[in-house]
Amino acid sequence: MRIYSEPGPGNMGNSLSPASITANLGTHFVGQRVIYYPSLTSTMEVAKREAKQGAVEGTVIITDEQTAGKGRKKRIWLSPRGNIALSIILYPSAVYLPSLVMLASLAVVYSIESVTGLKPQLKWPNDVLIKGRKVCGILIESGVRGSRVDYAVIGIGINVNLKPADFPELSSVATSLSDELGREVPQIDLIRRLLVEVEKLYLALPPDESIYQQWRGRLVTLGRRVQVSWGKTSYEGIAESVARDGSLLLRCPDGSLTKIVAGDVTLRDYE
Ligand code: BTN
Repeated sequence: MRIYSEPGPGNMGNSLSPASITANLGTHFVGQRVIYYPSLTSTMEVAKREAKQGAVEGTVIITDEQTAGKGRKKRIWLSPRGNIALSIILYPSAVYLPSLVMLASLAVVYSIESVTGLKPQLKWPNDVLIKGRKVCGILIESGVRGSRVDYAVIGIGINVNLKPADFPELSSVATSLSDELGREVPQIDLIRRLLVEVEKLYLALPPDESIYQQWRGRLVTLGRRVQVSWGKTSYEGIAESVARDGSLLLRCPDGSLTKIVAGDVTLRDYE
């Protein structure tokens, strides 16, 4: 079952109903069309299908629970009810594709700060942490033909009311907003704030170098001893800086500087 933001009898009575998300949202296009499912395999799959069919820019696919949520590197992303799992369809030009990671992670940080007062940090490239534990994951998928971007989908999963203690594989690495605050957190205000922040940062992209500066300034990774792994390859060194295209500049023990485009970072001093 899918429910659109267009008025209709199906829109009432759901906590994440399209109407409750779009009402007086104040954006120009992000979140002006919302497609809601009570349950879904993955919002990414539906968003990509919608994008290929030409969905209007800013369309949001949201669900109460995912049964096959996708994480980076083909991992599974757990998103039971009570959390946030959504995907946003955008049509950026190719030059802005690397900035989507920065804008999505900043939008999450700013919305969590403004709605809860918590102070999240960023771990390169796009993990949002609270006190060193992951509270949000971001997945960006795009359709690219040559130098042309057909579409980009920003997938955002936030642990809002997750109880990491219920999931042994998560308990030492993940947290949730409710765990941090000691109370249940309603999702709706956070979703609305998030969509506003995404649009604000997206509209600022073309001339605005400050998104890169803001993102760099929030990275807890910089200056730290880290291990970066990607498949069977692994590097160790000091995370010295990040380039404007989002890649990590790692100072290796032999003094060389390695540019890393993608990978999983372990902060060695958190172990
Ligand atoms: C990560 O591995 O850290 C990225 C996790 C991304 C999860 C979100 S939840 C909404 C969207 N739909 C998915 O299936 N994945 C992303």
